[in-house]
Amino acid sequence: MGQPARLHVVSATADPVDVVVGAGSGMGAAVARAIAGDRTLLVADRHLLAAHATATSVGDNARAVQCDITDVDAVAELATQVPRLGRLVITAGLSPTMGEGQAIYEVNLVGMARLLDALDGALADGTAAVCFASIAGHMPPLPEAIAAIVDDPLAPDLPGRLASVGIDPSDPGAAYGLSKHGVLRLVRRLGVPWGRRGARILSISPGIIDTPMGRQELAHQDQMQPMIDASALGRMGTDDEVAAVAAFLTSPAASFMTGCDVLVDGGFVSSQPQ
Ligand SMILES: NC(=O)c1ccc[n+]([C@@H]2O[C@H](COP(=O)([O-])OP(=O)(O)OC[C@H]3O[C@@H](n4cnc5c(N)ncnc54)[C@H](O)[C@@H]3O)[C@@H](O)[C@H]2O)c1
Repeated sequence: MGQPARLHVVSATADPVDVVVGAGSGMGAAVARAIAGDRTLLVADRHLLAAHATATSVGDNARAVQCDITDVDAVAELATQVPRLGRLVITAGLSPTMGEGQAIYEVNLVGMARLLDALDGALADGTAAVCFASIAGHMPPLPEAIAAIVDDPLAPDLPGRLASVGIDPSDPGAAYGLSKHGVLRLVRRLGVPWGRRGARILSISPGIIDTPMGRQELAHQDQMQPMIDASALGRMGTDDEVAAVAAFLTSPAASFMTGCDVLVDGGFVSSQPQ
């Protein structure tokens, strides 16, 4: 078979810049450690001090950047520092015990979509992105009316539109699951347009991972330990175990993978009824 036709050729000639957003803690920090190398690596987080700590620990080519992905101007400013996108990993997110539903939608889905939109002009042949979703996005399937709403994350007032189909927008558990469904669907939709430009995009759905977020959920939600016990491997994952997969997916070794999700969940989803 010949090479697939490209609709257009991206002419970016600048050196690729790698970016991890949410890199001040947990899996984002582990991803930064895993992919740091010869290229410029922007280590971004809403907390600048945390981003600095990660950047300092990963080496000379890493630069800390303050970026809250709910802030349109901060996202635009981050994009100006990326003339050509190499690897992009977005781990920034809020879990159900970290805020009200509206804030969770705004970070996990709207912010994610906004960041991808802002970086669109920097996509080039070889760009590879991983967006962090969750096992929460795998269950249960979305009714059509709700799917249509989460499929339009940048239209105004996502929580208000969900309220119009009977979802309580302030409910953190619903917001977490729906926002992560939205990430899975967003990545799947972007697979083809990115692929036409020689770029790849995937999602990772972690299971329960031993990070500050994972430990907080375990401490405050009774259903977490039974979920760990039910999973095939019967334990939490580590940030490095997930980061290794993100590093692989954004490397040339994964050059035929795009537009899909990769479960890194210790077999939790496989433990559930089919
Ligand atoms: N830990 C788990 O068990 C688990 C399970 C499934 C999915 N996930 C997902 O994996 C991702 C990473 O989780 P983690 O466990 O490493 O979390 P974490 O809380 O340890 O780290 C998340 C980082 O994102 C940053 N962040 C939050 N909101 C931001 C914003 N608006 N702009 C920029 N940065 C922001 C935080 O400051 C923090 O440094 C999240 O998207 C989470 O939903 C985690």
